[in-house]
Amino acid sequence: MPRTPVILVARTLPAPCEDRLARDFIVHRPAGDCPHPWPELLAIAEGCEGMLVSVSEKLDRATIETLPASIRVIATMSVGFDHIDLAAAKARGLIVTNTPDVLTEATADLTLLLLLGAARRAKEAMALIAEDRWGAWSPTGMLGVDIGRRRMGILGLGRIGAAVARRARAFGMDIHYHNRRRAEARVEDGATWHDTLDSLLAVSDVLVLNAASTPETRGIINARALALLPEGAILVNSARGDLVDDEAVIEALISGRLLAAGLDVFRGEPKLDPRYRDLPNVFALPHIGSATIETRVDMGMFAIDNLASVLSGGGKPLTPVT
Ligand code: DGY
Repeated sequence: MPRTPVILVARTLPAPCEDRLARDFIVHRPAGDCPHPWPELLAIAEGCEGMLVSVSEKLDRATIETLPASIRVIATMSVGFDHIDLAAAKARGLIVTNTPDVLTEATADLTLLLLLGAARRAKEAMALIAEDRWGAWSPTGMLGVDIGRRRMGILGLGRIGAAVARRARAFGMDIHYHNRRRAEARVEDGATWHDTLDSLLAVSDVLVLNAASTPETRGIINARALALLPEGAILVNSARGDLVDDEAVIEALISGRLLAAGLDVFRGEPKLDPRYRDLPNVFALPHIGSATIETRVDMGMFAIDNLASVLSGGGKPLTPVT
């Protein structure tokens, strides 16, 4: 009889994933589905060989150093892994895996929602309905802007960036991007490469952030960067909140240098700078880029595949990031 692996599962997964976990693993889990502080998780991690976590579990160096020696693999059900100190994990010989690809389309869909919400003043328009302040149809009322007449600049033409570009083309947008290296023609698909961020900013009527959070990209959209955008640009961020300098973005939204912003991610989320809540030109969502039934099942299954592959398969993860 093959041995049943013992794992810690930090959050409640969609039902099909939970069914599989119950069938194929011995699961340790905390009570209730909410982010738990590490001391609580560590208390039940003893004897576990793997952990299934999400972006709500921050695994910093100190936490990783206190994990039981039995842990061999940390599988995060996310494409991003900036919540895990990879250097510390590597130093302990831990395998870390993520779930790329399966959330690309859902996140790209959401990015377009953010763009349309910001460009068409959805927050203000919805407030007219919710607060019963809708007067009459007006030739000059609630005017937004046509996204099809604007250029989109994508910072980070990876999987999600390319999927955003595909959708934006259907709206008639002209696509520009900046990656350190030019993407292959298939990915580029007619988009214009800029070898510097500054050059991209100069043409970005709509700036879409699709970069990972790394020491190089944190705070990259600061006052200097915002000053290089065309007047009245729109900022869209479905990647990570810490790519932007909040103070600079909020100032630009107040001054009108930025016409609007569509934001799904925030530095320090779920807490966010309260001014984002108050500004009428901010269309904000609570980090729901991958939040569709199908995609969350795929993400959960992928994380489980990674655990199974390491713990019951040949010891090799499918998508290692360490
Ligand atoms: C990710 O996967 O990194 C997202 O931010 C969560 O869906």
